[in-house]
This record gives sequence, structure tokens and C-alpha cells, in this order.
Amino acid sequence: MSTSVIPGQLVAALDETQVAQEAATRIAKAIREAVAQRGIATLALSGGNTPRPAYERLSREPNVPWNKVSVFWIDERAVPPTSPRSNYKLAKESLLDAAPVPPENVYRMIGEAVDLDQAAREYEVLLRKLLVGTTVFPREFPSFDVAVMGIGDDGHTASLFPGEASVDVRDRLVLSVPEAAEKGREARLSVTAPVIENVETVLVLAVGAKKKEPLQRIWSVAGSTKDTPARVLRDVRGTVYWIVEKAAGGFDG
Ligand code: 6PG
Repeated sequence: MSTSVIPGQLVAALDETQVAQEAATRIAKAIREAVAQRGIATLALSGGNTPRPAYERLSREPNVPWNKVSVFWIDERAVPPTSPRSNYKLAKESLLDAAPVPPENVYRMIGEAVDLDQAAREYEVLLRKLLVGTTVFPREFPSFDVAVMGIGDDGHTASLFPGEASVDVRDRLVLSVPEAAEKGREARLSVTAPVIENVETVLVLAVGAKKKEPLQRIWSVAGSTKDTPARVLRDVRGTVYWIVEKAAGGFDG
């Protein structure tokens, strides 16, 4: 097996519950620190199955100034916000309503848009408006204080999938990603690699034996983002916490 180097801090968790709690604790801490520094925090959420328990626990974390937190998405499926496939619906049910996050602080990706590329461009304009050049976001490149990321069994993250050109795009912040009907995958909206690379604190959650192989591909020194787009997580300039359950290799790191 090629040499592995974990680009960040490995947080080994015994089970899914511990992954959720370790994530919730660290997200809450990063939010408090961002608000203490700048009076506001930006949180970007992934979807899928893994993050739900973490979002539920996060909604119960003490002393989180939710009225100062703006919530964005890392990616969204091309479905209405009421669809069980919607990453917005997942977050609304598990975190936003319970925290609660003021609705005016919630910036949903418009997955149901007829013109998905136009929706991607509009979300990019929103990110540039809210995250760049303002007093509270003195960063030269738009990104988030905190982002929750997952790993697909195929080695994707966000909606940057193997074999797609999306992972190589560096002149856009947000992209529409075509459907892959043969894989039963609807079209998506996704932030691009540069946005992920510029996040201050990234929490990567991995639960289940199916994550072990993609994680090894990500952590391997040798590899390509074309085959394993989640390798973009190796280039995050901020702090990356790999919160990995035992079956996913958390203790084999
Ligand atoms: C999505 C997610 C995606 C997810 C991985 C892992 O919209 O599906 O943003 O990137 O993080 O597919 O999904 P699971 O947590 O369901 O394994």
C-alpha cells in the first residue's frame, strides 16, 4: 500500500454517535471563535446521510450565537426543497428549525431551478456579495469559516465526482453538475475546489466500512483528484478534522 499521510487531524470515533458528537462540538467551537473574532460566522453544509445526527447534536450545543451565523450549502441536488433528496430539507429538519437559525440567515441553493447553470451563477454572485470585500469578510477569496464535508463511496466530495471536469474548475465558485442517469444521480449544484480549499475549519465525517477505501485513496501520498475528487481536501489551507468511525478506518489511520 502506498504511503499515507493524513492531511489534518484524525479524530477516531468508536461509532456513529461519537462521530456526530465530535463533529457537533468542533463546529460549535469554530462558530463561537469566528463570531468572537468578526461578529459573524459562516457555516456551509453538505448533505447525504452521515451528517444528520451531527446536525441534530449541533442544534443542541450550548452557547452558539445562531443569530450571528449565516448558513450556506456545499452542494444541493436538483430537486425541490421539499424532496427527501434535498440537502436543504435535511438541514432544515435536523438543525435550522431547532437551533434556531433566523430564516434571513439561511442561503439555500436553488436546486429546483429550471436553469441549473443560472442558479449556480446566482449563488456565486451571492457568495461574492456576502463573503468578499465586506468588513466582516476581509478575505480576498470567498469561503466559509466552517464547512461540513462527506466522502462518497466513489471518492467524491461535495458534488465533485470522479471522471467529471468539475474538480478541475478554478475560475468559478459554484457549478452545475450534469445528472448521471446510469448511476441514478440527479444533476447537482456544487461549490468548486478553490472554495473548499479556502475554508478555515473543515470537518470531514466518515461512517461505515464503505468509506475505508476512499479514505485510503485520499490519504495516500500518490493519487489524482480526477480519480478521487475528495483529494481536494488535502489542499485545504485551514484546519481539517477527519472524524472517522472505526469501521471506516478511524483507528487504522
Ligand atoms: C451529497 C453530499 C455528498 C455527501 C457524500 C457522502 O449531496 O450527497 O453533499 O458530498 O457528503 O455523498 O454521503 P453520505 O454521508 O450519505 O455517505
